[in-house]
Amino acid sequence: MAGENPFQHASTRVIALASGKGGVGKSSVTTNLAVTFARMGKQVAALDADVWGFSMPRMLGVDQSPEVVDDRIMVPPSGHGVRLISMGFFVPEDQAVIWRGPMLHKALEQFLTDVDWGEPDYLFVDMPPGTGDVSLSLAQFLPRAEVVIVTTPQPAAQAVAQRAAAMAAKVELDVIGVVENMSYFRGDDGKAYEIFGSGGGEELAGRLGVPLFGRVPLVPELREGGDSGLPVVEADPEGEPARVFTEIAAQIEAVAPRRIYRKELRLS
Ligand SMILES: Nc1ncnc2c1ncn2[C@@H]1O[C@H](COP(=O)(O)OP(=O)(O)O)[C@@H](O)[C@H]1O
Ligand SMILES: [Mg+2]
Repeated sequence: MAGENPFQHASTRVIALASGKGGVGKSSVTTNLAVTFARMGKQVAALDADVWGFSMPRMLGVDQSPEVVDDRIMVPPSGHGVRLISMGFFVPEDQAVIWRGPMLHKALEQFLTDVDWGEPDYLFVDMPPGTGDVSLSLAQFLPRAEVVIVTTPQPAAQAVAQRAAAMAAKVELDVIGVVENMSYFRGDDGKAYEIFGSGGGEELAGRLGVPLFGRVPLVPELREGGDSGLPVVEADPEGEPARVFTEIAAQIEAVAPRRIYRKELRLS
């Protein structure tokens, strides 16, 4: 139902994808994961909250804006089975975004309350990198969100990736796992070449005490799919990336819904 935040108490699991910096493939992972869940028959929605670097409309091949009904309620367009709301629908692509904290807060609130989301099983949130107003607002609106951190394999990137974990801790959200992206390139010889080094995802997961959900290979088709609006998991459902995303999805599914919803019930 619109008019109230449907994600406060509903059975929807909110999965927020976060990273310490841009360019690690957060939006690509969010998009392919969301489409994987849709392909599994789940009701899936996505909120592209990376207000300065929105890219999900293009990645999901969505070029129409939300439909407005009754003067207020937005019906999100969908792509590949994923209902999407993005800042990108409201800002021309060639225009610099000068939105500041309070306006963003209001906009995000509207995206959650004035959008007819239905009752999705999963809401994926593409978070802006780093800490800041948007993360704080989202945590306030989506207090049950579970955070998945996307990182790259080089051990030196972990300091940056930990910023995302620090952000989650600051706004009191649980980190449930890590996804390592661009982990290796598989050559025609079948060998996995670890171009960006190795071990970063595992090290970060270990440090945070959460599982490493998966290692996504570096594949040209993944980038092409993002540019053309046909996600690789849809274009090649039997391929290696699709298998990796299916494995990640299974592990997210297996995470028990957040054990403790209310602070006052916390034991320690
Ligand atoms: N596993 C991958 N294989 C090949 N290209 C990738 C992969 N992950 C991301 N990319 C490409 O890298 C660039 C940055 O990815 P993107 O998802 O936009 O990162 P972020 O959201 O973290 O800024 C994009 O051009 C994307 O297509
Ligand atoms: Mg992005």
